Amino acid sequence: MNICCIGAGYVGGTTMAIIAQRCPRVQTTIVDMNAARIAAWNSDALPVYEPGLEEIIREVRGRNLIFSTDIAGAIKRADLIFVCVNTPTKTYGLGAGRAADLRYIESVARTIAEHAGSPKIIVEKSTIPVKTAESISAILAANTRGIRFQVLSNPEFLAEGTAIGDLQNPDRVLIGGERTPEGEAAVKTLAEIYASWVPRERIITTSLWSSELSKLVANAFLAQRISSINAISAVCEATGADIDEVAHVIGRDSRIGPKFLKASIGFGGSCFQKDILNLVYLCDHFGLSEVAAYWEHVVRMNDHQKKRFSTRIVKALFNTVAEKKIAILGFAFKKNTNDVRESPAIAVCRDLLAEHARLSVYDPKVTPEDIRRELADAADSRLTIARTAYEACEGAHAIALLTEWDEFKALDFARIFASMPKPAFVFDGRNILDLPKLRTLGFQASGIGR
Ligand code: NAD
Ligand code: UGA
Repeated sequence: MNICCIGAGYVGGTTMAIIAQRCPRVQTTIVDMNAARIAAWNSDALPVYEPGLEEIIREVRGRNLIFSTDIAGAIKRADLIFVCVNTPTKTYGLGAGRAADLRYIESVARTIAEHAGSPKIIVEKSTIPVKTAESISAILAANTRGIRFQVLSNPEFLAEGTAIGDLQNPDRVLIGGERTPEGEAAVKTLAEIYASWVPRERIITTSLWSSELSKLVANAFLAQRISSINAISAVCEATGADIDEVAHVIGRDSRIGPKFLKASIGFGGSCFQKDILNLVYLCDHFGLSEVAAYWEHVVRMNDHQKKRFSTRIVKALFNTVAEKKIAILGFAFKKNTNDVRESPAIAVCRDLLAEHARLSVYDPKVTPEDIRRELADAADSRLTIARTAYEACEGAHAIALLTEWDEFKALDFARIFASMPKPAFVFDGRNILDLPKLRTLGFQASGIGR
């Protein structure tokens, strides 16, 4: 079998690496219109940082996985085409700020229609609005000379930072297809690929639309848990209860469960906000305004949490941070990734720069270019990028920990404290530091809901 994947991003790159590793007899080609990205995948400096990925790429690249810019050639050769392009929130026109921008999906459908010379299975892996498969089918049907296509929905549930484990041992694989003999045959073909390493009982098949909707709903539920615990963190700060203790207690109820209850400065990443807004748009479209408002509040609560954190810093520092140095530890949206898309650190840093603070940012994996690009509007001589956490903290009035990188837990805070003007503050936006110990050292230390 010959598989092509259009879109060499976080999802395309990692998913195909695992398929190539687990199915050595399947030939896979990942194509992208971004030549620099393909060059990076073919180099030693991969465009995506993900624990364990580099080793797998080294094993399969050139064997049964090829990175290429020859989109037309890869489409022609493929029996099955994964579509893994980006589906950002629309920033213009109808549905701006909510609906998914489907121009990349549509352009891929047209490119497939142009170059496919034989029947193919098209697999939507990108997260898309409900009924997008229908649009793809319509474009293909109108533009190909009688060639038959089957469109499947196969949303991806991996999380960045744990992508390799998530792909190797998924909770479930979801495949949606048309309930026709041809649709069922296509579902079976894709299921066979996953069955090379995923137990059959974890491969769930549904209708196309249930599959598309389930992906949006899964992300909405996960994000809702974070907004719920973050809402309670504000109550803890007001009352003196400890959010980590509360989360532990409620998580022990097996109906609630312990995961995704970590209070934080808010969720980030390229998908939670975009997918909830997509759901909100869908609800509005169908006249379900109360349902739309309910889900929209998950995003509003998240914005509020980020703002609450930056406001707290300013208030604690005697209502002014102007010209004060603040160390920012962590810029990625979570640990073990170099991805900064929608990172809550961006909002916090922008707020502090707007208050004329001097920021010294350190992140172990994010490039200085990415940090500067995200803060471009506000960036001025007040923004510096540090090479180590110690350099960032040297002489700072306060430390704001914004990403839960493990290395921050092992810092020598006695050494850091000695280099800071007093009183010295630590704001742990991820609740990973030992606050009582920091207080013994002399810090004014606080966390989220603590
Ligand atoms: P990404 O931006 O990292 O990668 C998308 C790639 O598609 C880019 O390299 C871009 O150049 C390429 N592309 C766009 N249009 C193209 C075209 N017409 N022809 C060829 N290449 C094209 O995006 P991502 O993070 O990999 O996400 C992809 C999809 O997967 C999104 O819909 C996202 O919601 C979904 N998803 C992402 C994650 C995640 O953790 N990042 C997890 C699950 C699902
Ligand atoms: C999320 C989902 O977990 C994946 O299942 C999904 O496939 C993916 O979105 C997607 O569709 O893109 P991801 O965004 O990579 O994955 O990472 P998460 O682990 O979900 O974290 C998202 C954000 O929530 C991060 O900023 C993280 O720090 C924050 N978070 C997570 C919390 O603040 N508290 C928690 O308890 C968990």
